[in-house]
Amino acid sequence: MAAPLAGLRAVVFDAYGTLFDVSSAAERTRDLLGEKAAPLSELWRQKQLQYTWLRALMGKHADFWQVTGDALDYSLDALRIATPDLRRRLMEAYERSGPYHDAREALIRLKAAHLKIAILSNGAPRMLAVAVRSAGLDDLVDEILSVEAVGIYKPHPSVYKLAVDRLAVWPAELGFVSANGWDAWGAKAAGLRVAWCNRSGLPRERLGEPPDIELTTLADLPRAIGLP
Ligand code: LAC
Repeated sequence: MAAPLAGLRAVVFDAYGTLFDVSSAAERTRDLLGEKAAPLSELWRQKQLQYTWLRALMGKHADFWQVTGDALDYSLDALRIATPDLRRRLMEAYERSGPYHDAREALIRLKAAHLKIAILSNGAPRMLAVAVRSAGLDDLVDEILSVEAVGIYKPHPSVYKLAVDRLAVWPAELGFVSANGWDAWGAKAAGLRVAWCNRSGLPRERLGEPPDIELTTLADLPRAIGLP
């Protein structure tokens, strides 16, 4: 039986939550946050994504660095955390979140098979450049694509179309990989071939056509693409 994502020439990854472990930012400031580290991390991420969707609906785009900072300010306020210097440390830690343990090895295997590797992310270009470099993935990623090129956030179809346009491949030759369910469903709605890396065993989204394949780790991606 053919692999679900056989025939790809390019693989495009979501960044935050897929390649970069954003929960590590609050973990790394646990000395200051104590038991509020986990609730802060969760609220910050939820609010950050809400703000991207709300800004898209409002027609008021602001880049992801601003949205991330605004979401952090809201979350610190909501959890009544007012530790001096914490905001700066959290933003710095976010920027250098570090890769998931399975990211580098998966990219190495795709690269060895001569697949083009790209990132397509909400992140602002400078944030993404820092994240890729500090995660030690710059030798593996061929292109970094930011929503700033289209001025609206995922899951707007123009974001996913950007990947097809910029990577000069047919849509059927492009695979998109995200650990964010809504992003995976969004890419599928935009006509891409999609792998959802469901790291935490979440239920499937109810947002129309499902992704082509569900994985639990990026380590299973090469097989889904049909690599030995
Ligand atoms: C990104 C967000 C969705 O990197 O994680 O685009």
